Amino acid sequence: MDAVRIYGGNCLSGQTTIQGSKNASLPILAATLLINGICEIENCPDISDVYHMQRLLESLGCRVEREDSLVRVDTSCLRESNMPADSVGVMRSSIMLLGALLARTGSVRMEYPGGCVIGARPIDLHLQSLRRMGVEIDQQELGFSARAAGLRGIVFRLPFVSVGVTENLLLAAVLAEGMTVIEPAAREPEIQALCEFLIRAGARIEGTGSDRLVIHGVEKLMPVRYRVPADRIVAGTYMCSCMCAGGSVFLKDAPVRDMEVVVEYAGKLGAVVSYESDGILVAGRACGSLPCALRTGCYPDFPTDLQSPFMVVMAASGKRGRIEETVFENRFRIVPELMKMGADISVQGNTAYVNGVRRLHGAVVQAKELRGGAALVVAALAAEGTSIVTNRHYIDRGYEDIVFRLRELGAKIELA
Ligand code: EPZ
Repeated sequence: MDAVRIYGGNCLSGQTTIQGSKNASLPILAATLLINGICEIENCPDISDVYHMQRLLESLGCRVEREDSLVRVDTSCLRESNMPADSVGVMRSSIMLLGALLARTGSVRMEYPGGCVIGARPIDLHLQSLRRMGVEIDQQELGFSARAAGLRGIVFRLPFVSVGVTENLLLAAVLAEGMTVIEPAAREPEIQALCEFLIRAGARIEGTGSDRLVIHGVEKLMPVRYRVPADRIVAGTYMCSCMCAGGSVFLKDAPVRDMEVVVEYAGKLGAVVSYESDGILVAGRACGSLPCALRTGCYPDFPTDLQSPFMVVMAASGKRGRIEETVFENRFRIVPELMKMGADISVQGNTAYVNGVRRLHGAVVQAKELRGGAALVVAALAAEGTSIVTNRHYIDRGYEDIVFRLRELGAKIELA
């Protein structure tokens, strides 16, 4: 079955090494299209979204090899710029190939990437911004074609911060004619990693990590070897696992620098979290009666991708809390599933009110998307009795071996 069975109640203990970042690997693999030659990307996680991106690159004619977590991409034989419909539909982040392909080949044909349960996920700002760089885009019912005789740099004043738009514009700008300014640019650590990769390949980018990126177009980029940073969202999810189930877990390689706000909120929920030189130690179940208010936002604010796991910690540990989701319009789909486990949560618009209970009880629940699915596994670890989380394939999109890793930490969990 495409499910996970968890027997709740075991404390967790030990160490788990945090995988490479999904949301850094994907744009960096897309960025290899800008480089004619062989790039080697280390620490790519073993997850289905990365495999989809590898297959997309192969469908364009690139040679892609994988040795453990090293992915080698040879784009010297790139021949296509029409993206296969089935792959684009499966993974939204295929939109990231748009900027790179336009810069490399000057033309792209692709279907609209689907929305998903967390929101409509439009690409209007992606297309609007590329048009201003000189791209002609012909939109049809199911997809669009884009052509650019040459991309020209411009100063962007974006109407709002978008991770994907910042990434697409970066990839279109590094080989464009002249200077490009992206403001406000997203500041997520994954964008910083993308900038580091591009700079190492010879791009001229100023303002990495700030909300204003200035890119001076260059003639050519050179092949590089680059190591993807660890995944802060996966590290935060395992932190929530310990805060729910209790015990003590060392998150080896957790990107300490990028997790300040997550650690701050874990402390507010009563966990004892300490920084080590090579990771983060989290101990103890969430506890205490102080209510907690959490609001998601763009980095360095609290990450929307950890909103569901933190909702579970509040719901499963008697905490009262208020969660305001400001990034996606429909990111509370986990609530009805948690209520099957005995959670007491009410939703009004983009705010969820959590009245935590002492303990959840096991149930059969359905993963509906990646982070909500992982959060249901976290909830089941602490629940009384047995739970089954169906649609495991959503979780496999972003979490490497989650069943094996949690079992190694002492959880009673198995594939079902
Ligand atoms: C990236 O999605 C991440 N995905 C998401 O992680 C993450 O939640 C999100 O950034 C916010 O941090 C990847 O990196 C692959 P946005 P992205 O553009 O780029 C609206 C996960 O679980 N918008 O910053 O799609 C959009 O609808 C995933 O790993 C437009 O309206 O996010 C959203 O409301 C989930 N028009 C807001 O902007 C556009 O053209 C922010 O989205 C583009 C975006």
